[in-house]
Amino acid sequence: MDIKNNPIGFFDSGVGGLSVMRESIAIMPNENYIYFGDSKNAPYGTKSLEEVRKLTFDAVEFLLMKNVKAIVIACNTATSAAIEDLRNKYTDIPIIGIEPAIKPAISLNKEGNIIVMATPMTLRENKFKELMNKLDDKGNLVPLPCAGLVEYIEQGILGGNDLESYLKEKLNPYLKPKIASVVLGCTHYPFVKRTISKVLGDDVAIIDGGHGTSLELKRKLKDKGELNASKEKGKIEIYNSNNDSKVIDFCYNLINTK
Ligand code: DGL
Repeated sequence: MDIKNNPIGFFDSGVGGLSVMRESIAIMPNENYIYFGDSKNAPYGTKSLEEVRKLTFDAVEFLLMKNVKAIVIACNTATSAAIEDLRNKYTDIPIIGIEPAIKPAISLNKEGNIIVMATPMTLRENKFKELMNKLDDKGNLVPLPCAGLVEYIEQGILGGNDLESYLKEKLNPYLKPKIASVVLGCTHYPFVKRTISKVLGDDVAIIDGGHGTSLELKRKLKDKGELNASKEKGKIEIYNSNNDSKVIDFCYNLINTK
């Protein structure tokens, strides 16, 4: 079988990576997609590094069994914990990771702090520290660990009073002097972008890495000559460790959530 027709595998600790996969579907609708969310073990961001590494390797093995031609680690936390080890082990398949999209936030050139919302693990790990060191003199970067936010999204809560109160408590201390932009450094957070805007006002730019990561995926497949040549819309298959049809339905809905 022509490898071009093989699916692209996506992985996240839960439903968050769908915010990346929907961007990939938008730019490569003719590809086939397989998504694995590990909602049973979410959240990852407050676990130990070893636990997240192990869960990530298990998920990659699952996707490889499905004959994927590329893998997107659509989780900032798993990327920071395991991407180098994964690339060292699986050398013949492109493995694309995701990191907080700080550069696009800096290039907006707006006055004020750039708030980087992410899980505690993402902000603690070396990958993020290196990114900060590289870019810190180009903008006022403020890391904001958001333990507890993934849980809202996993439960299907994308708005409402409770979530707004959580976000206000996190973000209000930074309203003064000024927030230039917010970087969503966790793939779950784009699903609550509207609620974040409600709390901060529409003039604060909110940036995520889903589109940039999808462009990188497309580039990698093109370089390998493995872009799907089909003219038909591709197939989408979703798996979740929390084997509940409600979760799977929620996932399909999220792909179409704007
Ligand atoms: N979507 C994951 C990320 O991008 C969430 C990690 C978690 O489960 O805490 O970091």
